[in-house]
Amino acid sequence: MSRAPSFAQIFQAPSQLKASSPGRINLIGEHIDYLGGRVLPAAIDLYTSVEGRVTTTGSLRLWSDKFHTGLPLVLALDSLAPIASGPDYWANYPAGVIDQFRSLGWECPGLDLRIESEVPSGAGMSSSAALETAVSLVCEAFSGLSLSRIERALLCQRAEHAFPKVPCGLMDQVAVGMGRRGHGVLFDCQFLEVETILLPDDIVIISADTGVKHALGDGEYGLRKEQCQSALEILGSESFRDVSIEDLHKNESRLTDVQAKRARHVVGEIARVERFISLLRSGDMQSLHDVMLASHVSLRDNFEVSCAELDALVESACALGEEYGVLGARMTGGGFGGATVNLVRRDSVERFCEALSERYNREFDNSVKIYQTHAADGAQLVREKLV
Ligand code: GLA
Repeated sequence: MSRAPSFAQIFQAPSQLKASSPGRINLIGEHIDYLGGRVLPAAIDLYTSVEGRVTTTGSLRLWSDKFHTGLPLVLALDSLAPIASGPDYWANYPAGVIDQFRSLGWECPGLDLRIESEVPSGAGMSSSAALETAVSLVCEAFSGLSLSRIERALLCQRAEHAFPKVPCGLMDQVAVGMGRRGHGVLFDCQFLEVETILLPDDIVIISADTGVKHALGDGEYGLRKEQCQSALEILGSESFRDVSIEDLHKNESRLTDVQAKRARHVVGEIARVERFISLLRSGDMQSLHDVMLASHVSLRDNFEVSCAELDALVESACALGEEYGVLGARMTGGGFGGATVNLVRRDSVERFCEALSERYNREFDNSVKIYQTHAADGAQLVREKLV
């Protein structure tokens, strides 16, 4: 991947195993995973790799290519605790996972981890879930505790709630752990069921990163969740999946303006996922555009999680349209910055990327970063433990 120092250079001993996890992009179903909706992300071929070695130091020593050039960060395993803020905040992700394994009974005597990642952070491509999942695979191999893929996703979600304190749903951990090459991962967040759906092979998933960093731990994400839950309570339903658009219209006057907007997004997005899936299944790719655009507009106006840069990228992609092979575009992930997802016909990809960058760079000071990605397999150990 790069000329970063090797494990042996950092820790003066070779690593014993290595795990790798893809990032993810969400095709449709935004901000509904923590409300029990169905979502359709895909794992993408940008990877985070974690190499590990068990030690007897009593410490967790962490080195990441994103945060270090020299010495690793050292945390005492006995007093492992969340890091509230500051430059070492990122260490919450691996530390949170290790803490989960300790609570399952793993008496980890010490651990060295070297992390290297192609998944941009804060860009809506699940760098967090990729890191958690790769660390989990390493811990599983060392501890001998074996988890199913859904148990692994749940453990990583618990770690994210407990250490970085992001009240995330389960979509990202499931997508990066259960991805399948060439397929989307249809995940039912209420019943925890996964089905993979074949994506047309002449389509490239293009992620356009605004470079505007989001921080989901800063409260806005949790606030959206609370607003939705309080709206649901007033509507008197167990799940937004039981609320039709008509029900919502009839009862909107009982909600505050903000609650009504949030609920409109959730109910609409639940329906858009179903429409998107049936279009994919029937091969009607032309009509994906309207569904994706409606999702974006709702995230912008009802859920208020977009930003000017994301809106401009979606507008540009839509304006480029069919002539540039565009089948659809919208913001992806938690929002407040981050990236858009663009479905583009393979034969037009280069022209599209060039034209999109050109338009964006004319309007904004920072340049857009474009990733051409493909739906990939989920996380796995890439080098087994040496005995
Ligand atoms: C973040 C969270 C996910 C999901 C998305 C929004 O990526 O980690 O659980 O809620 O935002 O769809």
